[in-house]
Amino acid sequence: MHETLSRMLASAPVVPLIGENDPERAVKIANALGEGGLSVIEVVLRSPDAQKGMEAILGETEDLIVGAGTVLTLDQAKSVVASGAQFIVCPGLVDEIAEYCLGEGVPVYPGTMTAGEVQRAYALGLREVKFFPASLAGGVPMLKALSSVFGEMRFMPTGGVSASNLADYLALPSVLACGGSWLTPADAVKAGDYAKITALAQEAVGIASKVR
Ligand code: 3PG
Repeated sequence: MHETLSRMLASAPVVPLIGENDPERAVKIANALGEGGLSVIEVVLRSPDAQKGMEAILGETEDLIVGAGTVLTLDQAKSVVASGAQFIVCPGLVDEIAEYCLGEGVPVYPGTMTAGEVQRAYALGLREVKFFPASLAGGVPMLKALSSVFGEMRFMPTGGVSASNLADYLALPSVLACGGSWLTPADAVKAGDYAKITALAQEAVGIASKVR
């Protein structure tokens, strides 16, 4: 899984977030993103039925890699992995979740924002982490500083990333991919404007292809 994920992120290093409660709509959003060229999708567990949305996307779409985000507990991690989640994203670093995912061979991206957290992730055996919340944690200058000491670490900045600063983050070789909700804006989701979501995905792919 790690290799497929890395390959897909190398070709389009952007991970859109889906926070949809309604499984049918979640599938439409995922397909709209896929049509726009983004095939690695994070479904955030922030609403009661978000996991059902993730399961529907996994069951009803093709050629997408679908992971679960905002995973807060080990039980949640086990539950989404049992449902087929292909990677896990957490807002922070919890050893037992990281260790479980490493043991299962499930790629995991715990949120980090300090040198101490990155070093702890490194000690646990991780070489890829989320950098969260990227803009508030110091943005590109902070990532440069962290990258200069953690040479093997790859980062996924998320939180405050948008089309306007995506290129700045992707210009850093240590950035694996950027994540964010700007690709699935609430107004477009509410209006069922899937063409807009596809257009935003295409825009992100275009920005990424100019930088990499
Ligand atoms: C996350 O869960 O990673 C963030 O809440 C996403 O932040 P954004 O909404 O600024 O993209």
